[in-house]
Amino acid sequence: MKIEALATLAQELGKCQACHLRQDALAPVGWYGNPNSPLVIVGEGPGGQEDDYGCPLIGPSGQLLDKALWATKMTRDRILTTNIIKCRPKGNRTPSVEEGAFCAKIWLEKELAIIQPKVIVALGSVAMHYLIDPTLKITKQRGLWFKTEDGFDCIATYHPSYLLRLSGHDQVAAKWDVFHDLEAARAKAAAACPNYNFQSDNPIDLFALFAKRQKIN
Ligand code: URA
Repeated sequence: MKIEALATLAQELGKCQACHLRQDALAPVGWYGNPNSPLVIVGEGPGGQEDDYGCPLIGPSGQLLDKALWATKMTRDRILTTNIIKCRPKGNRTPSVEEGAFCAKIWLEKELAIIQPKVIVALGSVAMHYLIDPTLKITKQRGLWFKTEDGFDCIATYHPSYLLRLSGHDQVAAKWDVFHDLEAARAKAAAACPNYNFQSDNPIDLFALFAKRQKIN
């Protein structure tokens, strides 16, 4: 049921021309993973490699996320990853609050309505501001539990791109914060779905699953 409904939504997303961001992207980037997962990770939006391959969080940020997921006994094929915004903003700039809200209302909200996750992890402040509250600060409110407007349990953590910009002690400390946030998210999702398997035997090589794509008009 969820698989078919999300597949239909993905086909509609492929045709989206609802805003100006579409013009500079090869094509929209949807979700990847298991639609039956009780845990969903919501990032900001596609970067260059995500646009090239049509997979969320496949580039450097995604690779760091995969390491953190493996450390917390999860793999990308067993959870579901998606983004607030589906088309790469030109020059990889951070999407505005309005752009994020416009896109998320059309696509992310429908994805979440189908998936009905037990837990959402907001990756970074763009996702935290949309899903929880635009006045929150990621450095202050990450690691705390909130309810989204639609009643989903949601925790925010640092975006991996932020971790990649840090160095030394700051980077180590922030990586531990992410580790603990992901552990807390997994524990809450596992409490709701005790028989769900969050981890495959091996980490997933997304580049082996996705081919480079061409611009779709
Ligand atoms: N950063 C995100 O938040 N999402 C992606 O898909 C890629 C980078």
